[in-house]
Amino acid sequence: MSDTPEPRGKGRGERRLFLRSLGMLGASALTGGVAGTGLRAAADQPHEETLPPWPWPYSELDAARSAQLGHAGFYEGACCYGTFKAIIANLAEVHGFPYTVFPMDMMRYGEGGVTGWGSVCGTLNGAAAAINLVCPTEDAKKLINEVVAWYSATALPIYVPSGQTAIATSVSDSPLCHASVSRWCAVAQAGATSAARKERCARLCADVGAMATALLNDYFRQQFVAQHQPAPVVSSCMSCHGSTAMNDTLGKMNCTSCHEPHFVTMTPTATPSATPTPTPTTAPLAHDHMGLFEFIQDWQKTGYSGPCDLHRDGCVDGLDLLKLIENWHK
Ligand code: HEC
Ligand code: HEC
Repeated sequence: MSDTPEPRGKGRGERRLFLRSLGMLGASALTGGVAGTGLRAAADQPHEETLPPWPWPYSELDAARSAQLGHAGFYEGACCYGTFKAIIANLAEVHGFPYTVFPMDMMRYGEGGVTGWGSVCGTLNGAAAAINLVCPTEDAKKLINEVVAWYSATALPIYVPSGQTAIATSVSDSPLCHASVSRWCAVAQAGATSAARKERCARLCADVGAMATALLNDYFRQQFVAQHQPAPVVSSCMSCHGSTAMNDTLGKMNCTSCHEPHFVTMTPTATPSATPTPTPTTAPLAHDHMGLFEFIQDWQKTGYSGPCDLHRDGCVDGLDLLKLIENWHK
């Protein structure tokens, strides 16, 4: 962790109390929409000093309460809002100000993978925003990474509202709303706009909200340990496509949920006439060191300078092979 979380808001008792009551007053006027008296209007004026600096203070939360709030929150403002609310409304209950005055409605945009585009799942978007509200970014990244990796690899939903029964579960293998919803619809034999699918996403708000809460609790107790990683194939693909080699793509999503693992069968852009035409290997490179070796051998000294010419010296040779193997183990 780059920052040791400090207990915040302690030892500043009196000033805090004052700020807190001011905040509560603001909150009641905000939610009530009451036309203010002169006094109330003055108290409602935003005072910069009344808000704590970012990241905002955190108090230990009950993850089960987050789950309830997330499930209910879905039916008020959909997935992103619901999951954000799971954590922030819980903090408002336990910690009070400033969470009592947060304009929660700003999270409505995240519905359906950002206004229905099916991109990042709103539950992840909402959880990530809440995490980064209370953690410095370098640490927030570790927690968010954990939530996204866990989400992608876990059969969801887990949460069962009291008095109800469990429903079909699916593993999204992806942080995308599109993949996640489609996979669940296929397993559950349910329509994408059905009430059943909505209930599934409401339960995901509960699951992701509770997971993020548990991680935050661990983090602030200085007990957070990452347990989930991107799918192993990602590092394999990125050993060639990542920043240390071809550098032509970014990301941690499971590559093979969209791309077929490929065989390198490209044709050289320039094959010198003096060398025999190499036969492109048919070995599956993504998982096979020998295939990689044969591939490099085939192309050795052909004068081919392409993505595999990692040293950019006009030929694909053993140096490039070494570099590939080196990257492979990163
Ligand atoms: C040994 C290195 C290596 C590995 C490992 C590797 N690739 Fe590639 N990949 C290449 C090369 C070389 C090309 C051709 C690039 C070009 O022609 O510009 C390529 C091309 C591609 C393309 C573009 C294909 C096209 O039709 O233009 C995609 C997509 C791709 N790889 C995805 C993957 C995925 C997914 C994985 C992991 C399962 C992977 N690659 C693993 C070297 C690799
Ligand atoms: C959600 C689906 C999805 C996932 C997951 C995904 N890709 Fe892609 N990728 C695409 C799309 C769509 C394109 C654009 C394809 C095009 O323009 O033909 C693309 C393009 C690429 C290209 C460039 C292909 C070209 O034609 O030059 C490479 C290389 C690539 N992806 C590698 C990867 C790797 C490595 C991973 C895993 C870290 C990955 N992709 C994960 C969908 C995905």
